[in-house]
Amino acid sequence: MGIRMIKISAVYFAIGMILGYYMSIVHQYALTPVHVHINLLGWTSLTLAGLLYHLFPDISRNMLTKIHVWLHNIGLPIMMIGLTLTLVMNTQTFIPIVAAGATLVAIGVLVFVYNVVKNLK
Ligand code: HEM
Repeated sequence: MGIRMIKISAVYFAIGMILGYYMSIVHQYALTPVHVHINLLGWTSLTLAGLLYHLFPDISRNMLTKIHVWLHNIGLPIMMIGLTLTLVMNTQTFIPIVAAGATLVAIGVLVFVYNVVKNLK
């Protein structure tokens, strides 16, 4: 599970970096919040979680891990698509999509935190 998460996080790294590179070239920084969250929730957070899952099997061989991985990886793209549409179209219409994705990610991260606190030895 850990290795798979690290591979997924590397894909987020590529997407986040390309978006930052694109913003630099066109001198348009409206998508900075998308760039930041892809890099921090997608790349750094998932890499760290993946490393912990790989190093400590105690926290990677239970249902909590699966719940975290699925919620994080379903919620983040939903949140990022909603945020991108919100910023590009300058409308509040897509805020519920952002909120739905953010809620999935937040629950997933809380499950991860519970798993670490309870099962890491
Ligand atoms: C080649 C890679 C990267 C490029 C080209 C890039 C580019 C950018 C650009 C153009 C901005 C907007 C600056 C502005 O609004 O004035 C930005 C903001 C930001 N980036 Fe990146 N970035 C890269 C990698 C990363 C990584 C790896 C992270 C974190 C893991 C990161 C975190 C942030 C944060 C937190 C901000 C917001 C800074 C602020 O608003 O004060 N970036 N980046």
